[in-house]
Amino acid sequence: MRAAVISERGAPPVVGEFREPEPCEGAVLIDVDTAGLGGWDVLGAYRLGVEYPCVIRGEGVGRNPEGRRVYFGERSVLPFGAWAEKTLVPAEEVWTVPDHVDDKTAISMGIAATGAIVPLEKANIQPGENVLVLGATGTLGQIALQLARYLGAGKVVAAARSEDALNRLKATGVADDVVCLRGNAAEDVAALKEASNGGFDVVLDLVCGQPMLNALKATRWGARIMTIGTGAGRKIELDMGDLLFRNLSTIGTGQRPPADRRAIWERLLGIAQERKMIVDYVDYPFEQAAEAWAAQISGPHAKVTARIRS
Ligand SMILES: NC(=O)c1ccc[n+]([C@@H]2O[C@H](COP(=O)([O-])OP(=O)(O)OC[C@H]3O[C@@H](n4cnc5c(N)ncnc54)[C@H](OP(=O)(O)O)[C@@H]3O)[C@@H](O)[C@H]2O)c1
Repeated sequence: MRAAVISERGAPPVVGEFREPEPCEGAVLIDVDTAGLGGWDVLGAYRLGVEYPCVIRGEGVGRNPEGRRVYFGERSVLPFGAWAEKTLVPAEEVWTVPDHVDDKTAISMGIAATGAIVPLEKANIQPGENVLVLGATGTLGQIALQLARYLGAGKVVAAARSEDALNRLKATGVADDVVCLRGNAAEDVAALKEASNGGFDVVLDLVCGQPMLNALKATRWGARIMTIGTGAGRKIELDMGDLLFRNLSTIGTGQRPPADRRAIWERLLGIAQERKMIVDYVDYPFEQAAEAWAAQISGPHAKVTARIRS
């Protein structure tokens, strides 16, 4: 079968021939229609313990042996994955896609939207509160801004570095206000405070590092800061004075049992439809998996997908 294959740690994927998965007890053989890519797939592909060659894992939508449309997360049985004509996925990770839901929505409401709604619900947003999404221009951020509003936020603010991507969020109404982070701490703090409407009550932090420390200074007492990603740095030098009367939590969503993640995903499909949620996509031909991979690494400001079955 055709597959996007990573031959060794650190190597980019190359589309070529790869052995087909064989049916096995407890797993579902899937003919893949659409594959998605996220930052976690890049990190996961080069983790210690991964054996090569392997297919890009990814999320996807395809057909089970009965021909039913199904979504599956990045849980393919190794060395298989979504970026191939066929994959093999543990049965409890294979979820039926309702007819009215398109492949790309099914994918973006998977890992990305789950990663947004779980911490936002834990933050217990009160009606009218000010919410900041830090690192808001990626898939998760775009969805988080809309979910924050759905959960009752008043002012919803997006912060990141790409002015163009931020302007799109403002133009589409996904964010009420945007803050372009330029890397000068004092200026970034001032810009965040200015946009904070007197102080952020909730910060969904997708990046950590210095941007998180800066955002903390623009929060008010009682603020909940939920950190879920570390793209801007895992180590921080935190002045505890900035955290007084605030709560800083870290959250991971992937460890939840499959049935819990499935219930969250099904709920998110409903919210996406009800709220007409907007997500930017960038679609690659399957044969350009290497280009898709490179785009994901450089920060695509959109969900990367590929049509596997033409
Ligand atoms: N904990 C969980 O359960 C969970 C679940 C899913 C995802 N995640 C994590 O959540 C994060 C976001 O996911 P995603 O798919 O949206 O990732 P993404 O596409 O990489 O988006 C993150 C955004 O952060 C911005 N950014 C990166 N470095 C920055 C910096 N130094 N300062 C300010 N902004 C910065 C980038 O925008 P600009 O280029 O505009 O700055 C980028 O668009 C990832 O780290 C992912 O691994 C966690």
